[in-house]
Amino acid sequence: MKKLLTTVFGLSVACAAGLLHAEELKGDAKAGAGKIAMCVGCHGIPGYQANFPEVYKVPKIGGQDAKYIASALDAYKKGERRFPSMRGIADTLTEQDMADVAAYYSGHGKSVELQPEPARKPSDPVAQLLQKGACVSCHGENFAKPIDPSYPKIAGQYADYLYAALKQYKSGSGAYFGRSNAIMAGIAKQFTDAELKALAGYVSSLDTNLQFVPEARFR
Ligand code: HEC
Ligand code: HEC
Repeated sequence: MKKLLTTVFGLSVACAAGLLHAEELKGDAKAGAGKIAMCVGCHGIPGYQANFPEVYKVPKIGGQDAKYIASALDAYKKGERRFPSMRGIADTLTEQDMADVAAYYSGHGKSVELQPEPARKPSDPVAQLLQKGACVSCHGENFAKPIDPSYPKIAGQYADYLYAALKQYKSGSGAYFGRSNAIMAGIAKQFTDAELKALAGYVSSLDTNLQFVPEARFR
């Protein structure tokens, strides 16, 4: 009870001070459309690669839940995610900007009926890794229906990006490469890099609603 009271008190103080997080603000997709000029240079070019500190594809964000997008942006801004250019960009966004661009991108997924995941043999090495990490218990059915809107869809995301993300959870917070998320750190640390790569490859091969959102003039 004491803990609950402290939490409630903390929340009301935060609200009073106007410190609502981006995930809790109402995003406006229309306003968001006017705020993505900075994003399309990377997130609008299919297959575009980041080249520092490691080479991998810029993730697809169209079709992620708005809460997850806002929470990821918040994590770059706070430095919990270390990737340098995203930190620089998130730093220029207000909480309202984050909520607006999140609303915009979440409305730009592929609307297709997802093909179910092919049956996995329990003896399959990847099936064993997925079971060990209980991945589906949070990332949801087909790894495309997370149990909480602030958790990511990972099915069909680029394999090299998924692998880089997993290695960042495993390594924690380095200068330019690392993510200090308590949930995923505990999970990623249970696996070798080769196992993380196998997990990333499998999850990436699954059907997805995620997609690139091309720049308007290319549509
Ligand atoms: C210079 C290229 C670049 C620009 C410009 C850029 N991004 Fe990114 N973005 C990246 C890369 C690379 C990553 C993956 C970084 C990592 O490893 O954490 C990323 C990650 C993200 C993620 C996390 C995705 C996930 O699945 O967790 C979100 C959300 C995002 N960007 C949104 C935006 C928005 C919104 C803008 C514009 C306001 C933007 N980005 C501008 C390159 C860019
Ligand atoms: C207890 C819940 C939970 C479990 C179990 C779990 N995850 Fe996650 N996962 C999360 C959350 C929450 C995040 C977002 C963390 C953040 O904000 O950076 C995440 C993020 C990720 C990301 C980054 C996605 C992106 O777009 O950047 C990958 C990849 C991932 N998880 C893969 C896995 C795999 C593979 C497993 C099983 C080995 C697994 N997860 C098990 C909760 C979980």
